[in-house]
Amino acid sequence: MMPLTPSQTVLITGASSGIGLELAQDYLREGWQVIACGRDEHKLSALGADVLSGAMLLAFDVGQRHEVHQAAAKVAEYLTKEQCQLNLAIFNAGNCEYIDAAKAFDDVLFERVIHTNLVAMGYCLGAFLPLMSKGARLGLMSSSAIYLPFPRAEAYGASKAGVQYLAASLALDLVHDEIGVSVICPGFVATPLTAKNDFAMPMQVDVKTASREIRLGLQRGQREIHFPKRFTYLLKLLSFLPAALWQRLMTPNKTKPQKDVSQ
Ligand SMILES: NC(=O)c1ccc[n+]([C@@H]2O[C@H](COP(=O)([O-])OP(=O)(O)OC[C@H]3O[C@@H](n4cnc5c(N)ncnc54)[C@H](OP(=O)(O)O)[C@@H]3O)[C@@H](O)[C@H]2O)c1
Repeated sequence: MMPLTPSQTVLITGASSGIGLELAQDYLREGWQVIACGRDEHKLSALGADVLSGAMLLAFDVGQRHEVHQAAAKVAEYLTKEQCQLNLAIFNAGNCEYIDAAKAFDDVLFERVIHTNLVAMGYCLGAFLPLMSKGARLGLMSSSAIYLPFPRAEAYGASKAGVQYLAASLALDLVHDEIGVSVICPGFVATPLTAKNDFAMPMQVDVKTASREIRLGLQRGQREIHFPKRFTYLLKLLSFLPAALWQRLMTPNKTKPQKDVSQ
């Protein structure tokens, strides 16, 4: 696999906020051609007139298959016009919602989260992967929640575990196409998504750190990009312990409800 170098083209979904917005700005600063995707046209335009100046802006809902394919057609036109290739695609758009009462399982919430975080990733692959050629790389956004089950994270964790399997399987099947696949598993990152959380988020990092770790991992062609290491290695270590032990650690206290989940 050829190492990725600046002055190439990167497409980022969820580039209107948080980690995706920081990635888009940092790639622009490094001289990449950036295709910044979001679902809100006005929000994107405002960013395009400011911190995302110079990026190609694309507004579509990743959960709507026809919108994703329409967006890919525009990207194909752009690539032809600019005579460039899509070297890197980071499918980062996502959502987090918690199952507050497992016994009264909210199947509508479950479907919504799986759809946005996992099914939509399939739409993005179906639409954008045909535009990628030898030497390109995909970054699929999962989460450190995949290393250990967290309470209330039935929907979110399942969606991100699905992304991990998707990335691992794709990595095998794209070897002969010489397209690399990285799964991205951040711990807690300070973004509008985590700002809604009402519980402690140990070892949280800022978006600049997250963007640096992700860009470095993608540049090195890492299969799995995880950070901050002290947090992700702790989760990995706990997962090797007997299930009875980590289940006791992770089970919420019934008398004093504990809202402790991972992003
Ligand atoms: N923050 C963390 O601690 C953390 C940890 C692990 C993994 N992650 C993952 O990292 C990714 C980015 O999260 P973030 O923390 O940066 O959250 P964020 O600030 O809320 O950004 C999420 C981005 O996804 C976009 N998006 C959501 N649903 C969409 C849809 N249906 N169609 C198109 N775009 C959509 C949002 O668009 P709008 O601006 O229109 O809302 C926004 O640009 C997510 O996949 C999240 O699960 C985050």
